[in-house]
Amino acid sequence: MAFARRLVGECTHMVLVARRKDILMELADELRAANSSLQITVRACDLASQASRGLLIEEIEALPQGKTLLINNAGLGDYGEYMSSSKERNNQMLQVNVLAVAELTRAVLPRMVCQGGGIINIASLAADLFIPDFAVYAASKAFVASFSEAIRLEVRKAGVPVVAVCPGPVHTGFGEVARRSGCSNGYSSFKKWVYTSVSEVVSGAMAALENNSPRYYPSLRIRLIGWLLRNTPLWLLRLVMGCRPRKVEPLQEN
Ligand SMILES: NC(=O)c1ccc[n+]([C@@H]2O[C@H](COP(=O)([O-])OP(=O)(O)OC[C@H]3O[C@@H](n4cnc5c(N)ncnc54)[C@H](OP(=O)(O)O)[C@@H]3O)[C@@H](O)[C@H]2O)c1
Repeated sequence: MAFARRLVGECTHMVLVARRKDILMELADELRAANSSLQITVRACDLASQASRGLLIEEIEALPQGKTLLINNAGLGDYGEYMSSSKERNNQMLQVNVLAVAELTRAVLPRMVCQGGGIINIASLAADLFIPDFAVYAASKAFVASFSEAIRLEVRKAGVPVVAVCPGPVHTGFGEVARRSGCSNGYSSFKKWVYTSVSEVVSGAMAALENNSPRYYPSLRIRLIGWLLRNTPLWLLRLVMGCRPRKVEPLQEN
């Protein structure tokens, strides 16, 4: 939503995709009020369904030619040990966080190479770390970062920027969606200072796209943590991740 609001004055046609159509319709009304000449397509689509993704891709491929910006923002997590995870939730995470990113990128890349545009893929700081109690999510975001870097080099000569955005914790609905029923939210133990605002993530991601930066870590603190993670030997990371207190605990009954 924040990306759509940021881009409202810069596009001629916007396609909004998520499952909750009512929220998308409200957003579309708000965007139309801000820019009456903006054409908006609201597409309620479950990106975890291969069939729905297929229909969305057909629709995207039929859009009028021109400069295209793809923002792969949809994503979800799951706090808790892998052993007790739900097969359905893991599948949903991989479909949305990994397959949808890859398939939508494949669908728009040829047109971007011919007519211009760019891609913003929302990864995570988790892309740089294996995280017990967040195993599938962190691995899925490692895919997003690695995939974005590789694609960026493939289309570099065509001048198509591809950015992997790697935020740390941000106050959104993410934590509640990732929380398992009866358990605490894994993010709830994070200190306030690690959080980045949504506006900082969005404005920084747009600037990174303009500068053709491969990655963007929102805020100096997250940039520093990312740098430390990427420059710490694996043995030390294993030691630290193995000793750290478990963040996801069953909720105490009163
Ligand atoms: N918040 C954080 O701390 C944080 C940190 C690092 C990275 N990220 C990443 O940031 C991105 C945005 O997440 P957020 O923080 O804004 O969380 P959020 O508030 O839960 O938003 C997630 C968005 O993804 C959409 N979505 C989820 N599942 C979908 C599906 N199956 N099909 C279509 N759309 C779906 C949701 O819309 P519907 O529910 O209506 O479908 C919603 O618009 C994600 O990729 C997340 O991994 C978040």
